[in-house]
Amino acid sequence: MTSRLSRPRDQIRVLLLEGIHERAVQSFERAGYTSVRRLEGALPVDELHRELADVHIVGLRSRTQLDADALQAARRLVAVGCFCIGTNQVALDDAALRGVPVFNAPHSNTRSVAELVIGLSVMLFRDVFRKSSFAHDGKWRKTAKGAHELRGKTLGIVGYGHIGSQVSVLAESMGMRVVYHDIVPKLSLGNARPQTSLDELLAVSDLVTLHVPQTPETSNLMSAERIARMRPGAFLINASRGTVVDVDALAGALREERIAGAAVDVFPTEPKNADEEFISPLRGLRNVILTPHVGGSTVEAQEAIAVDVATQLAAYSDSGTTTGAVNFPQLNLTPHAGCHRILHVHRNVPGVLRAINDVIADQGVNIRGQHLQTRGEIGYVVLDVERTQTDDVLEPLRAIEGSIRARILY
Ligand code: NAI
Repeated sequence: MTSRLSRPRDQIRVLLLEGIHERAVQSFERAGYTSVRRLEGALPVDELHRELADVHIVGLRSRTQLDADALQAARRLVAVGCFCIGTNQVALDDAALRGVPVFNAPHSNTRSVAELVIGLSVMLFRDVFRKSSFAHDGKWRKTAKGAHELRGKTLGIVGYGHIGSQVSVLAESMGMRVVYHDIVPKLSLGNARPQTSLDELLAVSDLVTLHVPQTPETSNLMSAERIARMRPGAFLINASRGTVVDVDALAGALREERIAGAAVDVFPTEPKNADEEFISPLRGLRNVILTPHVGGSTVEAQEAIAVDVATQLAAYSDSGTTTGAVNFPQLNLTPHAGCHRILHVHRNVPGVLRAINDVIADQGVNIRGQHLQTRGEIGYVVLDVERTQTDDVLEPLRAIEGSIRARILY
């Protein structure tokens, strides 16, 4: 039995802003969502508000501000997709209180970062950046001195999550020995070995690469003391977050050649646009490779982001699944073949679940499955019910005190 949506998929209007990759449109279309408009740029505020008035799903990147006013204008909005990593551009709490989950794609560029780390590792071990700078200046510095293979060297990975573990696999295939340190127990891939402390890792690593999130605990994780504990002549790569390394201390260690070199992609303060000057104590050091936060910036990552976010949005619209939503209770739901599915978003206050069940019981509707998840101020209940008469339940469900949104997937 095929399921019928509360609104047919081809009538669900999707607006994609800011040149989101075409693959998003294809993903929506494959899922049956054929009413997709894709615009190249961001819209001026007035136009944005006008456009939003009619759409059910909006996709954006970093330049569209979906603030409280924009959300107010978006009366029919069901879900938001940030086709990027960051979600600061959306008033997340406001959206949640309107029953609108916001999705993003935090891991679609994992492989891109991992590949860059491997490339940078080779560049550092061969001192390519300095040699290339000389060559650009017309100077021929052909020497094997200080140039090494990766093979047989020890790579220390700090943070063995999505990116760290990918780097682990790639580095081993280059013949490196891999050790790692994480604050939670992880499954070692290949022959990688966990180290109980960061200091232990620093003591044995020829190259240290950082892949931790930005948290209070990781702020200045690589402090002056920690940098001093690296092996003499070792290398450091930071493609995680700028706050993780004390860059002044790093610049000092590099200037004095206590460590041999570094590659840095992320900085405590980064220019907001191409017109702003990039300021860093690492500038001008020939044993440092600097890149402008491009670890995850590849065409492939953009494609992956497009597919990932479009898939999450379609899954939410089809089944109510909120896995991956950044502002919403997370429910991972299987398709609801053979029954109707009631979605109810409400304020997380006592008594709502009982009120919902009372409404369902009063209508004589038989419940097959019930899921509840809360997050902060929001509660999310999903009921799979017999495909009897459910048309009359929506109004009383919406009337429950604290109710934010209710809909039925048929
Ligand atoms: P993830 O969340 O999958 O992995 C992070 C790992 O670090 C987790 O296993 C966690 O347990 C561990 N961790 C947390 N605190 C730690 C600590 N104090 N010491 C040791 N381990 C700790 O994150 P993912 O996707 O691997 O990303 C890692 C970093 O890379 C993030 O900071 C992210 O912002 C950054 N990133 C940078 C990009 C770029 O363009 N350069 C692109 C994508 C991500």
